[in-house]
Amino acid sequence: MIMSPLNYSGNKSKIIKTLINLFPKDIKNFVDVFCGSGIVGLNVEFENLILNDKEKHIINLLKYFQNNSLDYILSQINQIIIKYKLTDSKSKPKGFYKIYKNEGLSRYNKEGFLKLRKSYNKSPSEIKLFVLILFGFNYFIRFNSQGLFNVPVGKTDFSVSQYKKSVAFIQALQNKNIKLLNLDFRYNKLYKNGDFFYFDPPYLITEATYNASWNEKDEKDLYDILDSINSKNKKFALSNVLESNGKSNDFLKYWSKKYTIIPIDRQYTNANYRRKNLGKTQEVLIINY
Ligand SMILES: C[S@@+](CC[C@H](N)C(=O)[O-])C[C@H]1O[C@@H](n2cnc3c(N)ncnc32)[C@H](O)[C@@H]1O
Repeated sequence: MIMSPLNYSGNKSKIIKTLINLFPKDIKNFVDVFCGSGIVGLNVEFENLILNDKEKHIINLLKYFQNNSLDYILSQINQIIIKYKLTDSKSKPKGFYKIYKNEGLSRYNKEGFLKLRKSYNKSPSEIKLFVLILFGFNYFIRFNSQGLFNVPVGKTDFSVSQYKKSVAFIQALQNKNIKLLNLDFRYNKLYKNGDFFYFDPPYLITEATYNASWNEKDEKDLYDILDSINSKNKKFALSNVLESNGKSNDFLKYWSKKYTIIPIDRQYTNANYRRKNLGKTQEVLIINY
């Protein structure tokens, strides 16, 4: 299993095995239209993969991982950690840093993190952004209306487990036949050569920063694209929720009647840490094969 070091909000890592078991077995050209962290596409067997997302920071970061050697990327991370005096638990003996209750490593890292954030907002680079994500609160990737990264310091650092995840993830991006695109899902180019399309769009009725800009028009445009894929006898799978926290997506319930609806059983835990206390979520995979 390849996991993403990005721990992207709404990522599918908890249900990846379930999803893959439900996907067709003979995929040649796989298109992950709303790829986010990229982990769904990266864990599927394919000959060619397209990872697409409208969020340019994420696609630029994935491109950076694809186009630079692993040693170079790791040395760049290390240089930033040293320059901004951030913690390096991976290279230090256990117990070297005192872990404060509820604060983790944030006391050590706050000052350096804020300096790095300032530097990134003045002159952005992919590697600075990656270190900000690693050391930022809950690995959030969030920008304010002026486009400035505004996540506060987090509790963790580039730990042994994050290091291992990052290495495997970068290697997967480099070793496989993968094209990265930064397009809105409505672009025809995405649908030209694929034979299986996976859609994990923002959900109309749940919370996530990227859901705020998703509206009923986007939702209906998406259904049109799925219907058009179906009419060309190509296969798709759509992840979504029919109900969540007392809300119901009635458009989706109505539209999906003509396809196969598979309930996905899981407890969201770190995908959305607040959801634990909220109402039930009815997650589904809608397929046309
Ligand atoms: C639920 S997340 C995908 C998570 C991903 N499957 C994973 O496991 O990490 C939805 C993604 O859709 C992207 N997105 C939102 N609007 C879009 C659009 N109009 N076209 C393409 N991507 C879009 C967001 O940037 C976000 O990354």
